[in-house]
Order: sequence, then C-alpha cells, then structure tokens
Amino acid sequence: MEDAKPMLLVLSLLVVAILPTLRANIADFDEVWKKRAEDAKKASLEAYDPHPERVTQNVNEEVHEALEGDDGKRRNLKKYNGPCTATNPIDRCWRCDQDWASNRKKLADCALGFGRKATGGKDGEIYVVTDPSDDSLLDPKPGTLRYAVLQPQPLWIIFAHNMMIKLSQELMVTSNKTIDGRGANVHIANGGQITLQFVRNVIIHGLHVHDNKAGNGGMIRDSFDHFGLRTRSDGDGISLFGATDVWIDHISMWNCQDGLIDAIMASTAITISNCHFTHHNEVLLFGGSDTYSDDKVMQVTLAFNHFGKGLVQRMPRIRWGFVHVVNNDYTHWLMYAIGGSQQPTVISQGNRFVAPPSLFAKEVTKRGYTPESVWKSWNWRSEGDLLLNGAFFVESGSPITNLDTKDMIPAKPGSFVARLTRFAGALACVKGKPC
Ligand SMILES: *[C@@H]1O[C@H](CO)[C@@H](O)[C@H](O)[C@H]1NC(C)=O
Repeated sequence: MEDAKPMLLVLSLLVVAILPTLRANIADFDEVWKKRAEDAKKASLEAYDPHPERVTQNVNEEVHEALEGDDGKRRNLKKYNGPCTATNPIDRCWRCDQDWASNRKKLADCALGFGRKATGGKDGEIYVVTDPSDDSLLDPKPGTLRYAVLQPQPLWIIFAHNMMIKLSQELMVTSNKTIDGRGANVHIANGGQITLQFVRNVIIHGLHVHDNKAGNGGMIRDSFDHFGLRTRSDGDGISLFGATDVWIDHISMWNCQDGLIDAIMASTAITISNCHFTHHNEVLLFGGSDTYSDDKVMQVTLAFNHFGKGLVQRMPRIRWGFVHVVNNDYTHWLMYAIGGSQQPTVISQGNRFVAPPSLFAKEVTKRGYTPESVWKSWNWRSEGDLLLNGAFFVESGSPITNLDTKDMIPAKPGSFVARLTRFAGALACVKGKPC
C-alpha cells in the first residue's frame, strides 16, 4: 500500500521538511520542552545497549526455563477455565499469585528484554482512579487518570472499578508511572491517544485501548507545573516520542486512527509483550523518518504478542533500530508482517507466522523502496520460526554469530507459540484469585 501512495509520501516529506519533527504536537517549543528533549536524548543514549545480543539472550534463557512441553500447532480458541498457568516467563513472574492485588508492585520486577529496566511507579504510592471523566485539560480533577499521570512523583495508578475513559485530547503521561488496569475492565477508547513524550520509566499494563482518534490539540497540561499549546495528535493507541525504559504488557488494542503503538524520535529500551492486536491497518511503527538517523539507538523487544484478526501490515515496520521479535503469534496479516527501511536489524526467533490465503502476501518480510543490492547487507534473521500456509521470511545480512554462545539458549521453537501467547491481551483479574 505504501508503494501505491507516492503522492502521500511526497506530501509527508514536505510536512517533515516544513515542520521539524522534533517539535511534533508541541506548538510552543519553549525552554521546558527544550530541556525535556535534551534530557530525553541523554536518557536514550544512556539506555542504548551497544551489545543488544546479550539482551536477547536474557529473554531466551527465561523462555527456556518457563516451558515444559509443546502445545502443538493450533491456537486453542476455547475460553480457558482451568487453574492459572503462566505460560511464559514474564507472566510466570507474577500471574499465579492469588494475592496479586496486594502485591501489585511485584509486576515491576517482571519485564524482560530491552524494556526490562522499567519499574514505573514502583517507588511511589498507589493512586486510585475513581472518575472516568476527562473534562479539563489544564486543571484535571483529582481522581481522574489525567490528574494521576501528571503528578510529579512516582505513582502506581490503579482503577477503582470498570470504566470507559474517553480522552478529550492526548493523555500526557509523565516519568515514573505505572498504569495498572488489573482488577477492573478499563477501556481507553474513542478519544485521544496515550502519549509518552520525552519521558522515562513507564509501565502500561492491563488496558483495552481502541478506536482512538486524532485530536485537534489546544492548551494541554503536560506536567504538574507546565502546560502549552499542542497541535494535532495522530490518533495512535500509544505514542512513544523520545521515551526510554517503557514496558507495555497485556494490552488489548484495536482500530485506532493511526498506529496502535508508534515509537519514534530515539525512543528506546522498550518491551512490548503479551499484547493482543486486532482490526488495524498500520499496527506498529518503530522509527517514523527516513532521515532521522538518531533512531539507530532504538531497541525494542516484541515478545509473546498475538497479532490477530483483521491486521494488515507493520508488525512492526522499523527504521534504523534493532528489534528482537521473539515467540509472537502472527495469525493474520493482509500485506506483510515485518517491514523496514534504513538498515534496521530484525532478529526473529521462535515466532509462528501463518500466511494469509492470498498468493501475493505469503512473504513475512518487506523492505520498502530499497533495491536488493542495498538491503542484502541488513541483518534480518529468522531462527526457529514456524512458517505455515506458505509463509516465507526473506533473510539478509549474515547469520547471528556475535552471540555469546555459552549463555545463548535459543528461543522456544515456533510450535510453542500458541501456548506462550495464549493469554495475550488484557486479563480479567479478580482480587483474591490468580489472574
Ligand atoms: C524518576 O525516578 C528516578 C529514580 O527515583 C529519579 O532519579 C528521577 O529524577 C525521576 N524522574 C522524574 C522525571 O521525576
């Protein structure tokens, strides 16, 4: 589809040229934003790991320990009613504890992969959201989600009851926050996106995020002591912009206006795990610009996610950075699953790729606008992936040899993936029972 839209490409290049992307959505790039941008840049350079292979090993070893058996090649579509079985190492860290509600912060120790240092609001108090409204962008009411995420101190944010939150514009989440939807059925839907701009250390867990729309912007508070004029927001599900140490886990996401999750402007140290994505065209975008080479520091782990019904492309589409795609279940795509440009690195291990019926969409991979003479040196590797229904992964670059083989235990084979991802998406956790 991208190839079929040359006019759009030209237009977006023009927009990039006119409006420096660094300022995106910030109409008044004042001293506060300048300082935040500088701090965020430092944070991303600090978090960037010059030896990312070691982090991929960390996930691989844990997966190996968490599994005992093979569950076969099909997704079990029946609703699961048995005892708690945490099927992957991230879940195993917390899920089967029946006292999870009194040990919520245990979750902060459970991330793996590039986002593993995210502890969110672990050092802060619990804050209970009681009010689903979002009526004031400058002076949000205590008890609302917007009020909670703007507080200057670390906070572990939970929800008093089930709620549908329609954000009137994008939600500006600040550093050192956890948004923890466990125990309530929480939907962030039909309104503004969740934005993490120039912030560090955020965990988002257990929400349904869907049908978000572009927002017109306006005067929006972006921290306890600062607000400013913001321009239009894209209508992503979750937007990371110069964000570092972010873990997004067990989120169900569908049908937003732009991407479900976009990570741009040197966002790094990110893990996206246990999410269930459905009904969306451009699912995950990592790196939004062909000219912004600072995105080379971008390092993302995608683990135990289910890319399900009604998806089209970009799972992810990556520029410049490094993505470890491990033990995800790709059961639906219409165009391709993993795409990229600007020599990104894609390490795909132990995923299951089930190609769609169309003969023209069997290829898992897609390199945009690049001749083979150029992309043949990009490192895109597939190891232990289960390729079904004619799916094929076009590798390039050289085999992964720079791994420390003495620690390196391969990801589980793709045939384990249905089991590893069985509980992807927001969980219906009940107090006093294992999740
Ligand atoms: C977040 O927490 C860390 C560790 O407590 C602290 O050093 C840092 O200043 C906090 N960041 C912000 C923006 O409050």
